[in-house]
Amino acid sequence: MKLGVCYYPEHWPESQWAADAAQMAALGIEYVRIAEFAWSRIEPRRDHFNWQWLDRAIAALAAHDLKVVLGTPTATPPKWLVDAAPEILAVDAGGRPRRFGSRRHYCFSSRRYRSETSRIVTHMAERYGGHRAVAAWQTDNEYGCHDTTVSYSAEALRAFRLWLADKYGTVEALNRAWGNVFWSMEYGCFDEVDAPCATVTEANPAHRLDYRRFCSEQVASYNRLQADIIRRYHPGVDIVHNFMGFYTGFDHHRLGRDLDIAAWDSYPLGFLEQSWLPDPVKRDFMRQGHPDFAAFHHDLYRGCSAGRWWVMEQQPGPVNWAANNPAPLPGMVRTWTWEAFAHGAEVVSYFRWRQAPFAQEQMHSGLHLPNGDRDTAAAEVEQLAGELAAAAPAVPAPRRSDVALVYSYEAEWMLDIQPQGQSFSAGRWVYACYSALRELGLDIDIVSPQQALGDYRMVVVPCLPLAPPALVAELAGLAVPVLLGMRSGSKTESFQIPAELPPGPLQTLIPLRITRVESLRPDHCETLVLDGVSYRAHHWLEWVDTRLPAQMATATGRGVWYSHGGENGAAVHYLATWPEPLLLRKVMRHIAAQAGLAVAELPAGVRLRRRAGVQFAFNYNAHPVSLAQGEGRDYLLGSADLPPGGMAAWQLP
Ligand code: GAL
Repeated sequence: MKLGVCYYPEHWPESQWAADAAQMAALGIEYVRIAEFAWSRIEPRRDHFNWQWLDRAIAALAAHDLKVVLGTPTATPPKWLVDAAPEILAVDAGGRPRRFGSRRHYCFSSRRYRSETSRIVTHMAERYGGHRAVAAWQTDNEYGCHDTTVSYSAEALRAFRLWLADKYGTVEALNRAWGNVFWSMEYGCFDEVDAPCATVTEANPAHRLDYRRFCSEQVASYNRLQADIIRRYHPGVDIVHNFMGFYTGFDHHRLGRDLDIAAWDSYPLGFLEQSWLPDPVKRDFMRQGHPDFAAFHHDLYRGCSAGRWWVMEQQPGPVNWAANNPAPLPGMVRTWTWEAFAHGAEVVSYFRWRQAPFAQEQMHSGLHLPNGDRDTAAAEVEQLAGELAAAAPAVPAPRRSDVALVYSYEAEWMLDIQPQGQSFSAGRWVYACYSALRELGLDIDIVSPQQALGDYRMVVVPCLPLAPPALVAELAGLAVPVLLGMRSGSKTESFQIPAELPPGPLQTLIPLRITRVESLRPDHCETLVLDGVSYRAHHWLEWVDTRLPAQMATATGRGVWYSHGGENGAAVHYLATWPEPLLLRKVMRHIAAQAGLAVAELPAGVRLRRRAGVQFAFNYNAHPVSLAQGEGRDYLLGSADLPPGGMAAWQLP
């Protein structure tokens, strides 16, 4: 449990570096990420390198025993490179090249950009590989940020055609897989296939899905290019990338296999403000963030790189990029940090050391004001450093969670491509399931469909249109309850309806078929009745054909929750609609009870998370909360009375 900070020596006079480093160390910071946007200073003209300033910056940090996380500068190709090689630019769906003047303007498929990447990363790795102060390398910065995974450049199209030829072998196979007989979309050879944009109405969903898969693989192979070079020059060093919040443009599970550490950038207030959540929720949590948002990503990214993960950028105050940018409650930065540690983060690093007085992010706060005075979060970081020193020895290692929630990036793409209803979103539904489990005080691992599930006590598959055979076999072998959510098993690999109807191969787990689906108007709900109480269901309703008795039905008698098996508590459940939160929690509670899991009754806005023998509690409300039966515990931090945005931790008996 270490603290870090993001620092831009190139933004400040060199005379300030030594004092900055001394203050960082005095504040309890141990890791400093630098250089991820510094290409124009490292190589101001082609092949004219200026390493000396970076050498001195690293030396200034090392003089205070700070560990450097060195970023490769590839998110910001400099002007001379763009002018010399305009083919490196990404192209938008309207065919326009992205312009120089911000960042992330390159195309992942550009062969020229890949060779320029190899060149700069190799030079950097030659110089700093093995440097005793360099503890880790960050590849690039936030792949996909500003919606930059997909590019429609000529280079991307060329690579896509090769990718298709490799995948399908013959163009006839591609035509069959995509169903191109429909609307006379058949191709005579791979070179006739275009990127799926600028069509009159929607392009073929199978074509779009393959393009998303292709673009995702381009990001992964681009990252691997960098990682391979760094490993060659700096064997054994940790390689990390900083992912984003709720960004699903590429498969992070796939990319994470080439990293040692998955990191993510946590901006709870900006994310809430930019989210789909209704205004009253945004207002209630505007200075704390939504109670499940950061946790969701902690649990997601822990599953992206074999368990090792960091928060690379933690919001320290108002950001500059959301529709409204309020300040966190006093103490909130500390609470966010502790929550990350409760979920198993190795490092939490703040963005940024000092607020920049110039350029795009001058309204983004840091730990210090532009003049160098402390901003409010600095005192919270200082407090944290003291608490970590005192409490860390008593805080045990993270443990495996009881509940696995299976999450797939491809599922997001599939339902984004063909949502079949404006208010259906796979991501929001997954989040609703996650929140329901968290409200019951359960610890959750968010895992990929490829992950082994044998050690979990309950498995939730909220929505997985393509159920891979290995996962179906894995689920069939479990002796714990499994919940399958709507639209699971509803598509084949080629984006077709399975021959046996949805839920396709999952019918081997529970005998039912979906014969019709309805998306519901946003202003309409179905009434559901459970144990004589009425609830609402939104967005989606499936017509289920089965001999199983319904556990729950609409007021008109349409069954929406079915269960099968159940010997040794290992029932398989299918949920055919989107219940309101209270009811979803009830369903989860029922299944958790089958799993033999103890659930908690928590005050609204309060969440728990356990690390082996230590229980953490977090109050996301803007008002104080007292924990029931909270007296008499062995508190490491705080007490049963949680202040607004506060936290506590206690030893479990
Ligand atoms: C992140 C990015 C940083 C900075 C920050 C501002 O997305 O990685 O470079 O822009 O946002 O909140």
